[in-house]
Amino acid sequence: MTTMDLTGRTAIITGASRGIGLAAAQAIAAAGGNVVLTSRSQESADAAAAEVGGAALGVAAHAVDADAARRCVDLAIEKFGSVDILVNNAGTNPAYGPVISQDYARFQKTFDVNLWAPILWTALATEAWLGEHGGAVINTASIGGLGFEANLGLYNASKAALIHLTKQMALELSPRVRVNAVAPGVVRTRLAAALWQEHEQLLNDATALNRIGEPEDIGAAIAFLASDAASWVTGETMVIDGGQRLGDAALFRKGPVAGA
Ligand SMILES: NC(=O)c1ccc[n+]([C@@H]2O[C@H](COP(=O)([O-])OP(=O)(O)OC[C@H]3O[C@@H](n4cnc5c(N)ncnc54)[C@H](OP(=O)(O)O)[C@@H]3O)[C@@H](O)[C@H]2O)c1
Repeated sequence: MTTMDLTGRTAIITGASRGIGLAAAQAIAAAGGNVVLTSRSQESADAAAAEVGGAALGVAAHAVDADAARRCVDLAIEKFGSVDILVNNAGTNPAYGPVISQDYARFQKTFDVNLWAPILWTALATEAWLGEHGGAVINTASIGGLGFEANLGLYNASKAALIHLTKQMALELSPRVRVNAVAPGVVRTRLAAALWQEHEQLLNDATALNRIGEPEDIGAAIAFLASDAASWVTGETMVIDGGQRLGDAALFRKGPVAGA
């Protein structure tokens, strides 16, 4: 029988002090899992762990700090006995505008956090636990990685590469470790505030399911992919966007244009 019960499993979730990462930690904890939540600040990580409650631990670790990442993996095993689930969720977007207007510093930060960090953390977790015992890795990509948008080209390129990397790692770590990704649409978080805050109603109208996403929508999908209910799923990218990629739903609700 397949189940979404995560009792006895331990998950590390990077970038979990708020937003999608915190919601993923809450969903995994609700399914019975132990959770280790990372953030760049110990204070924020502790606050998020306290919000989850139960078997939750906050750890300060910049996503690309290899020493901090290694300490975090070791700490998770020391405290909970295993690392069965890794959620590579920390993400950043310092680069707004056409790709040819960007500089190397913004390129480097984008690709370091969004692409290198998932490789680094997956390597460490595989070496410490997953390689021998098996488990699941979930990468937070974006629907931006599946298409083209003005001003978000560099960020979207990093997410397209993460979707590719998800498949590559699914093959390299098979058959013991499943590697999947989620591709959220616009979700109500701080990172995406510029995409929804000033025109939420317009976005709601344009979305088939009539609302932007909440972090919990993505957290639930991550918990599913982490669980045995997804035990025959690997290399996939699950789009969770309320239908945003289908096109402008408002045009369909209004019916055909008169005279056309
Ligand atoms: N919201 C959306 O519409 C949307 C859509 C598609 C994909 N995504 C992806 O979802 C993921 C989570 O973003 P979010 O929307 O939930 O944003 P958010 O609410 O702003 O949360 C971002 C989280 O990442 C942490 N973080 C940022 N930079 C970090 C770094 N260098 N090292 C470690 N932690 C870091 C932040 O913690 P501290 O600031 O405390 O360090 C925070 O916990 C990202 O990968 C993002 O690209 C979001």
